[in-house]
Amino acid sequence: MYVCLCQGVTDGQIRDAILEGCCSYRDVRQTLGVASQCGKCATVAKAVVRETLTELQSSQVMLAYPAEFSAA
Ligand code: FES
Repeated sequence: MYVCLCQGVTDGQIRDAILEGCCSYRDVRQTLGVASQCGKCATVAKAVVRETLTELQSSQVMLAYPAEFSAA
């Protein structure tokens, strides 16, 4: 589903960005540009980041970077 209509970013793209190394909402925002225009998507984007990081932690995936949520 589309999370950010202004930038055309989907929840799948956010998940992929995290799997490719983004480890916070701030990283995702800088990488994909979510919430960089109208900002209406920020709450949903943060929720997708939080859910994805929580899923990664609970699935015991070994990451080379810290997987902690930080709302920025
Ligand atoms: S919907 Fe994401 S910045 Fe507007």
